[in-house]
Amino acid sequence: MKRIEQNLNADWLYVPFDLKAAAKANCPEGKFVRVSIPHTNIELPYHNFSEQEHCFVSWYRKHFAVPKLRAGCRVFIDFDGVMIASTVFVNGKQVAAEHKGGYTPFSYDITDFVHPGRRNLMAVRVDSSERSDIPPYGGVVDYLTFGGIYRDVKLRLVDGVYIKHLFVRAGDVPRDRKKVDVSVRVVNTMAEARTVRLTARFWGADAAGVTADLKVPANGEADADLTIAGLAQIERWDLDHPMLYRVSVSLENGDGVETRVGFRTAEFREDGGFYLNDKPMKLRGLDRHQTYAYVGQAAPARMQRKDAEILKNDLACNIVRTSHYPQSPHFLDRCDEIGLLVLEEIPGWQHIGDEAWQAISVRDVETMITRDRNHASIILWGVRINESVDNHDFYTRTNALAHQLDPTRQTGGIRCIWNSELLEDVYTMNDFGYDLKVPGARRYLNTEFCGHMYPTKTFDQEERVKQHALHHAHVQNQIGGMKTAGGIGWCAFDYNTHAVFGSGDRICYHGVMDIFRQPKFAAFFYASQVEPEKRIVLEPATYWKQGDKSGGGVEPLVIFGNVDEVEVFIGCESRGRFKPDRERYRNLPRPPFVIKSLGETWGKNWADVRVVGYIDGKQAAERRVCYDGIPARLEMVADDKTLSADGADMTRISLGITDGYGNILPFAIQPVALKLKGPGVLVGENPFSMPGGRGAVYVRSTRKPGTITLTAETARLKRQKLTIRTKPA
Ligand code: GAL
Repeated sequence: MKRIEQNLNADWLYVPFDLKAAAKANCPEGKFVRVSIPHTNIELPYHNFSEQEHCFVSWYRKHFAVPKLRAGCRVFIDFDGVMIASTVFVNGKQVAAEHKGGYTPFSYDITDFVHPGRRNLMAVRVDSSERSDIPPYGGVVDYLTFGGIYRDVKLRLVDGVYIKHLFVRAGDVPRDRKKVDVSVRVVNTMAEARTVRLTARFWGADAAGVTADLKVPANGEADADLTIAGLAQIERWDLDHPMLYRVSVSLENGDGVETRVGFRTAEFREDGGFYLNDKPMKLRGLDRHQTYAYVGQAAPARMQRKDAEILKNDLACNIVRTSHYPQSPHFLDRCDEIGLLVLEEIPGWQHIGDEAWQAISVRDVETMITRDRNHASIILWGVRINESVDNHDFYTRTNALAHQLDPTRQTGGIRCIWNSELLEDVYTMNDFGYDLKVPGARRYLNTEFCGHMYPTKTFDQEERVKQHALHHAHVQNQIGGMKTAGGIGWCAFDYNTHAVFGSGDRICYHGVMDIFRQPKFAAFFYASQVEPEKRIVLEPATYWKQGDKSGGGVEPLVIFGNVDEVEVFIGCESRGRFKPDRERYRNLPRPPFVIKSLGETWGKNWADVRVVGYIDGKQAAERRVCYDGIPARLEMVADDKTLSADGADMTRISLGITDGYGNILPFAIQPVALKLKGPGVLVGENPFSMPGGRGAVYVRSTRKPGTITLTAETARLKRQKLTIRTKPA
């Protein structure tokens, strides 16, 4: 039979407490509320809350239909991620022992628990407390894991003989190995051995396929390896042209699975460099936590995908590290599609637990790699607990397992102790110095810098926000001059954390963007490294206010851009043309402009600044900043105009108070009141306090399609209004 996969995200029932009777089929449901997955067990303010607030047991119930089953058919329930431990009951019976771990998927065969042809009831007990028996917990952790069924749920019906997983290795195009190698694991749940005919197909300009027979023992599994060769017309996957192809495998009984594949080579070499498709490439990236304001990790596919786009397009990164856990499949899919390299790692933070804890961690290695090894974007597996001490036996196991499951990729293991034992292929080190050490290891990647060395808020004074950006520029410049693979800075976005980290309001202000994904000046530094052929960037890193800086004044005026030259006007008067600071930042593709000789004037001649950027002597961009700081406009922008009416889809609504030229005024901190009408839910604080003159709320769909209108009001500025449509899911 053809497999049937049904998304089971909608219409769950939820209680935010431990209701023992919830497992029972006949439990009264009056106390439950209707929710959709992805779901957070509690919505929180974006800061100023306790890390204990999401640490509780909750229950989810889902009524679902199971059709009449053909002989031999198996029914599965697939969870992409439940934070942090879960126990599943079907029709009142416990299906398996508690599942421990919130960052990797798990599945249960529930065939023997369901009533075919009838309604069924699934209940899930979710423990979201910080359990010391489960990674990352046991010590302190600088991030929050939040809670709930926060990733997709699926019902899957398969034949008694079915495909468990698929590993596709694309050939090496530069060396003319134009083929794909396909490894398939087939499961036979029947009482007698079966020989199955498998067909693997490549879907491209030259579609091709191969067939093989595989004997699978009774109640057992077997692996088949197939090669589809002679693919003459394939195009490579690279960052500017992330070409993906489909590969499918089917069984003659109708079962089938499909995945995507990209033809590329990725290698950290002994000469210190990283090579994509045999070409050296300096890796420049940022670490990403997958947490969001108000909803923790429960962001829908759309927002996960958007983060990848922000990293690639707005921050001009070529790599992201999924610190410190396997991240959303939707995020990784988007990395494949847009060409953003990924270093993915197992859950953990400094602490290594006992044997049972380590066993979960080894299982995490296995699940992460089995889930993600077909992603073209992933170039390195992180198989150590972030910043942990050496543990020879444990890390020998994780490395061996990674190499066995995926012989095509190298391993790293993120460390902060110099000269710690290297069992991995690449020495991946968090070096937070401003004067980076020259590594002894031949293959070396800096996986964290800046971060806690210089926490920076959007509402800090200009010199700090500017210095924060220059620290990133300084370190990336050093990395540019070293014979190493590159650097991944801490970090992309501000994130919620525990009391012992961060600024006391449960935020680590380490991002180059804030928790709402709005830019600090450091984001402009990253943005400016993009080739001007792709996008022109010109961003003066200034509030252009003379009294905000220690000692006053606006110099040095720092401008991030990818133009050859800038001209700075104060009012109508040109104060000169300036070149980027190639002296100090000689290893950056596009050094910042650091201007100290504007001939600043005080008093009544002070005026707006106008910056003109030139490429090849021609004007390419212009930016202005008002001198007077009076709020001119309230801005409200939705990332998306249309949502799916599935009850979980959500889009960000960015807010900003700007000067007359559209620059955010960092000290325009005044409440904005929001009003939502129509079939949507406002997620976030209302009124919103606008730290740094900006911020965001989210609009979530309900199960009802229609038109949502949102209005925003603040004192003395024109009211804003927008509409979002939701379409049947
Ligand atoms: C590192 C750690 C990160 C984060 C960072 C802050 O040591 O790996 O998770 O805490 O420091 O700068």
